[in-house]
Amino acid sequence: MEKMPYREALDMRVSPAFDESVVSTDWRSGLPALAGQMVALRDLRASDAASLFALLTTEEVSRFISPPPTTVEGFEKFIAWAHRQRQAGQYLCFAVTLKGFDTAIGIFQVRDLSSGLDTAEWGFAIGSPFWGTGVFEEAAHMVIKFAFDTLGVRRLEARAAVQNGRGHGALIKIGAVQEAVLRKSFAKNGRYLDQVLFTILERDWREAGGPLKEVRRAHIH
Ligand SMILES: CC(C)(COP(=O)(O)OP(=O)(O)OC[C@H]1O[C@@H](n2cnc3c(N)ncnc32)[C@H](O)[C@@H]1OP(=O)(O)O)[C@@H](O)C(=O)NCCC(=O)NCCS
Repeated sequence: MEKMPYREALDMRVSPAFDESVVSTDWRSGLPALAGQMVALRDLRASDAASLFALLTTEEVSRFISPPPTTVEGFEKFIAWAHRQRQAGQYLCFAVTLKGFDTAIGIFQVRDLSSGLDTAEWGFAIGSPFWGTGVFEEAAHMVIKFAFDTLGVRRLEARAAVQNGRGHGALIKIGAVQEAVLRKSFAKNGRYLDQVLFTILERDWREAGGPLKEVRRAHIH
């Protein structure tokens, strides 16, 4: 999801206080905390704004995604917006932390494309100090499982700018299949970029009995 649905400039609302203690089996009321070997996923908290601002606004992270909020306060508004969208059942965003630590080092977003989550789009960004460490791969498999088992997603789409070689490598490595090129579908810095549409089908994931394997990879410069 290189086009983050949140737009800071459009969010004029003052958010009510959010009860951060809520954990429920109904994801609309609060995302569950999920633990892997190295990584943990949990709902975003207002207090994640500072670390997400520091890690996700760098040039290398934001190069191929929609501009993230430009201030810590902007991230606080984004987090409040994410909670409202979750409560409405339209979108959710996990914070990624290292297991045993509470600092948010990245996010995984999932949004409904079909009124009922039959088809959903996901997107992710991890602070660059954690690239190539396995954090992405483990978190991605946890989010895929959550999407298929808990959200009831059947088709999980991702869009990655053709120039985003690392994004492509990451998606291919977790078994996403390249379906199409969406020509001039993403506006970035005054230019329209082509995007590759990658998908993971619940059917394939269930047939594989868990994490899918890489299909194939071409190096992109
Ligand atoms: C996308 C992202 C979350 C992936 O996390 P990561 O830790 O960098 O991913 P990994 O290192 O586990 O996997 C990337 C793979 O792509 C490979 N790769 C790197 N550059 C590549 C290129 N130009 N072409 C093809 N593959 C490439 C890496 O070697 C790695 O594969 P390997 O582990 O088999 O060596 C992270 O890079 C990120 O936050 N990027 C910025 C935000 C973004 O672009 N989001 C994607 C939107 S679709």
